[in-house]
Amino acid sequence: MTDGPLHLLLRQATAPAHVALEHELDWAPRVATLEGYRSLLARLYGFHRSWEPAIGAALSDGAFFDARRRVAALARDLAFLGLPPERIDGLPTAPAPALPGPAAAMGALYVLEGSTLGGKVIGRHVAATHGFAEDGLAYYTAHGPRTGAMWGAFRSRLDTYGGEAGTVVAAANGTFDAMRRWLAVAA
Ligand code: HEM
Repeated sequence: MTDGPLHLLLRQATAPAHVALEHELDWAPRVATLEGYRSLLARLYGFHRSWEPAIGAALSDGAFFDARRRVAALARDLAFLGLPPERIDGLPTAPAPALPGPAAAMGALYVLEGSTLGGKVIGRHVAATHGFAEDGLAYYTAHGPRTGAMWGAFRSRLDTYGGEAGTVVAAANGTFDAMRRWLAVAA
């Protein structure tokens, strides 16, 4: 599959935001201990819990979006790491974004779906460090062997939003920034 024009533009336009997030995330030292890993997942949970419903509502296409929701995977990982249900439920939640329509939702989803790509590196590292196979790794495993197919399908749909490129790019950069600020804090 070749890259479509909007995808190329988006990748270019958000590259500095990706670098900034990757840098500030400081993931390797954070996941070096089980406590640090759990605290990172707790922040991710708080982010996904408010962003996923907003994306779902703005996109209004469950057939496409529901398989891309990951908040349940985060809850499973947190439970495996010993956090009781009431503590999971009471975790701080990120402010819900304003996503005025499907183009903005696709920009936000670009960031969350793209994180399944770099997430493979993090997942492999966590597995090797803590000896996990599947339990505790549901979030970072994400789509597993279907990652490439899911990303391909996402990109195909993304490229149908070429007429609203400005909205998609602004939403993606806004999502990267919100995530960077939210994840910079330890749970
Ligand atoms: C929550 C944090 C992260 C988010 C939201 C994120 C987001 C993204 C996005 C949107 C893409 C797609 C770029 C494209 O259009 O091709 C991507 C790709 C990628 N990211 Fe990240 N990323 C995150 C963390 C990381 C980290 C920590 C690493 C390094 C371990 C990383 C490494 C990569 C790599 C290697 C790719 C390209 C994968 C490929 O083309 O197969 N990312 N990421």
